[in-house]
Amino acid sequence: MRVQRELVVALPERDDERAGVIRIIFMQPDLIDRPTSGATSVELCSQLCQTRERTRRLTQDLSTEQLMGPMLPIVNPVLWEIGHVGWFHEYWTLRHAHGLAPLIERADLLWNSSTVAHDTRWDLDLPDRSGVFRYLDDVLGRQLDSLTRSIDAPRRYFYELAIRHEDMHVEALAYTRQTLGYGPPEASRDPVASVKDHWPGDVQILGGTWRLGSSPEDGFIFDNEKWQHEVALAPFRIAKAPVTNAEFAAFVEEGGYGRPEFWSAAGWAWREQVDAKRPVYWLEKQGSCSGCSFGWNWRRHGAVEPLAPHAPVTFVNWYEAQAFCNWAKRRLPSEAEWEAAAVGEPDGDRLSHRKRQWPWGGAAPTPAHANLDFAFDGAIDVVGCPAGDSAFGCRHMIGNVWEWTASEFVPFAGFSADPYEDYSQPWFNSRKVLRGGSFATSARIARPGYRNFFTPDRNDVIAGFRTCAL
Ligand SMILES: [Fe+2]
Repeated sequence: MRVQRELVVALPERDDERAGVIRIIFMQPDLIDRPTSGATSVELCSQLCQTRERTRRLTQDLSTEQLMGPMLPIVNPVLWEIGHVGWFHEYWTLRHAHGLAPLIERADLLWNSSTVAHDTRWDLDLPDRSGVFRYLDDVLGRQLDSLTRSIDAPRRYFYELAIRHEDMHVEALAYTRQTLGYGPPEASRDPVASVKDHWPGDVQILGGTWRLGSSPEDGFIFDNEKWQHEVALAPFRIAKAPVTNAEFAAFVEEGGYGRPEFWSAAGWAWREQVDAKRPVYWLEKQGSCSGCSFGWNWRRHGAVEPLAPHAPVTFVNWYEAQAFCNWAKRRLPSEAEWEAAAVGEPDGDRLSHRKRQWPWGGAAPTPAHANLDFAFDGAIDVVGCPAGDSAFGCRHMIGNVWEWTASEFVPFAGFSADPYEDYSQPWFNSRKVLRGGSFATSARIARPGYRNFFTPDRNDVIAGFRTCAL
């Protein structure tokens, strides 16, 4: 996950003093009983194979040159990233949880994201594609062998961590492909919606005491979700759906990117630095064009396509979201407000203390509820998935696009780092929180309580936003 955060944060390696150091693993004291999903060995095997199939699908069509790609602060060499995924599995499950010896002696020197500085990853003596996948196959084979027996909860935790880590890299690979203009992944399905429309308007969320964060009953959680604590919420109104391309286009067409009064000082500085005139993948408007319904095209993968007017605006950063809000006389929700709108319920004229598992209730997500798990290679129109509405009537709180919130990424009261100690704490107080997951997010990650976090300038991740009334 460290590397996913690096993809996100575009910072040089934080721990330069540790570069090149192989940490000795005597971590058995960390094998304590942490909350897990309770997945059986058979279920873990299935999850391991499912996420690996996605890793292969996102990488197997790439040329040798594409597997390395250009050195940018926001991407990793794909070949390195694949090996890192395998290394993370080996490090935490085979070596840490089961106490096995390393499969490759120099694996830590190649793929430990805590010690291999980002800019050096293009210069490493990496195995070739077949060598990297042979390593991944060896690790997976040993994991599956270990899971022929039942597994105790302390060890299950590390399998669940490693599976989710690969899930995160799958999504990172998806937006890396978009960043670099690679073609659509193999066997991907273009977004479709049976009804193409917008879904305008607000709903009223009741005030009350909200229990923000996760509890041990939530199963596998990340350290930054610890622990649930009470937050007072005043009543507020929030949009039923995320801001659409058509809605955002009105801001662009009214000159929003040229009017500093809508932007924060930091946002305007970013806009000037990159000379942004519209969202990063939008192409200059050409007027009417064949096949485009409202005149805007964008670069999707390696091709130019019409922008779907009623799909959520995607690949916008926090500064752009905030500027839109100022122009529209709206605001971003806090993460507590977002969570209450997503999984809260009314209790008379107050917000209930109950929290749903998912916006629609307790049933596991299906394509009727949410656009997740690469069901489509893109966001669908905001009117889709009515079966996924929250108790208050908000749609697409889960899936489609991540949603920026107003909240700074800060530790909750009771936070303590989990064994993968660099997952959260290096990034507190310098990131904004996003919630809800995208079309490329696994249902394992896109739980309502999951806190994603990126710097406010990142417009390469699959993120949009929804707004609240002032
Ligand atoms: Fe990682």
